[in-house]
Amino acid sequence: MALFRTVSFAEQYPTIDGDRVYLRPPQMSDHAEWAGLREASRDFLTPWEPIWPADDLTRGAFRRRIKRYSEDQRNDQAYPFFVFRRADHALVGGMTLANIRRGCAQAGSLGYWMGASHARQGYMTAAVSMLIPFALETLRLHRVEAACIPTNAASIALLERTGFKREGYARQYLCIDGRWQDHLLYARLKGDGQV
Ligand SMILES: CC(C)(COP(=O)(O)OP(=O)(O)OC[C@H]1O[C@@H](n2cnc3c(N)ncnc32)[C@H](O)[C@@H]1OP(=O)(O)O)[C@@H](O)C(=O)NCCC(=O)NCCS
Repeated sequence: MALFRTVSFAEQYPTIDGDRVYLRPPQMSDHAEWAGLREASRDFLTPWEPIWPADDLTRGAFRRRIKRYSEDQRNDQAYPFFVFRRADHALVGGMTLANIRRGCAQAGSLGYWMGASHARQGYMTAAVSMLIPFALETLRLHRVEAACIPTNAASIALLERTGFKREGYARQYLCIDGRWQDHLLYARLKGDGQV
């Protein structure tokens, strides 16, 4: 029955091509560029993310990250992507469709980050717009959820621009930057149509 279908890819899930950026599954050879961008963006990103483990940017931690990503993808649990600028193939950010729930939910949660020097250039708007058809059509999800802290103006603008609707408010929803913080809840449903 279509509603309860899961999806599996023979090997790696596909790269998603767009005009300005493309989304590709992370791979071990991305480590140096990823670590450099994350380190350079530390002050920009850490107020909005879970606390980074002390060894987060090391090669060993990245190897474990890649292993986890590939297990998650094989089990249809999560689909991480790095965002690359088409013009020069530079890594500019990342996004993950995680916590996939099948059965009668057919839902997943979207998270994203942009390197500080690449912010406010429309890259994440493009990337989210490209991920939505992958989530709703290729993966056959019914709902993509996202949550953000009420003071995160950039994230709110991004979600509203890409067709997410505000659905609610969850108290102390996620532990971000070391504190349980309230979040606005957003979702984009299969029937919400093009933006
Ligand atoms: C949220 C984030 C991923 C947006 O990425 P981005 O590539 O800069 O987004 P875009 O350039 O596509 O911009 C999306 C919209 O947000 C607006 N915006 C971006 N930064 C903003 C800011 N600091 N304040 C207000 N609006 C902002 C943009 O102007 C754009 O809207 P508009 O074109 O209608 O004006 C990025 O700001 C980021 O990584 N922030 C820190 C980490 C974070 O917040 N992660 C998400 C946690 S929920």
